[in-house]
Amino acid sequence: MKELSLHLLDLVQNSIEAGASKIEIKIDEDFEKDLLVMEVSDNGRGMSEERMAEVLDPFFTTRETRHIGLGLPLLQEACRRCDGHLEIHSNPGKGTTVQAIFRHSHIDRAPLGDIPSVLMTVLFAENNIDWLYLHKVNQEEFRLGSSEIRKELVEIPITHPKVRNWLLDFLIKGENRLFSKAASVRTSG
Ligand SMILES: Nc1ncnc2c1ncn2[C@@H]1O[C@H](COP(=O)(O)OP(=O)(O)OP(=O)(O)O)[C@@H](O)[C@H]1O
Ligand SMILES: [Mg+2]
Repeated sequence: MKELSLHLLDLVQNSIEAGASKIEIKIDEDFEKDLLVMEVSDNGRGMSEERMAEVLDPFFTTRETRHIGLGLPLLQEACRRCDGHLEIHSNPGKGTTVQAIFRHSHIDRAPLGDIPSVLMTVLFAENNIDWLYLHKVNQEEFRLGSSEIRKELVEIPITHPKVRNWLLDFLIKGENRLFSKAASVRTSG
């Protein structure tokens, strides 16, 4: 069982490989509906209908270096094991949205894992990508985007070690605050 953050890393890597300059990452946890939806949308090269059908076949990949693309089939399997499914919407030349849907409380649903580290990897892998991260737990949300960070930093390069630490700390605190708010709602409800 792979933590959801590692699946998220796969999705974002696909978006980067598809030449995206804009990536939106959303995690939506709804206790009432008992759903967890993890979504990545990009403005990369997209896929044809035909390609989309092939993509969920584990023996298909457009990469030359390895012949088995496993990212999406494995994520689809993880969703299905948890009463959920994987949805791919794509427009050639415009972009792709991948939505992984899970039953939140399902016993086989993997934990989110280390989301801040995955976000940091994405942030520092490609620094001209416009990205937005939005994590919702019921009515609460935590959001961070590259435009907000750029506004905050002005002239300081994002790769400055102090910026790195500040960002990681900001992400960890933001996520922890969400979890503790969610936990207090759960115990009082
Ligand atoms: N966001 C995307 N935009 C455009 N094409 C995509 C996107 N995500 C996936 N694809 C296409 O789907 C194929 C399968 O993706 P998948 O992640 O399953 O395997 P892979 O990336 O080829 O290999 P692996 O993830 O195992 O390294 C990719 O090779 C690519 O052609
Ligand atoms: Mg992949």
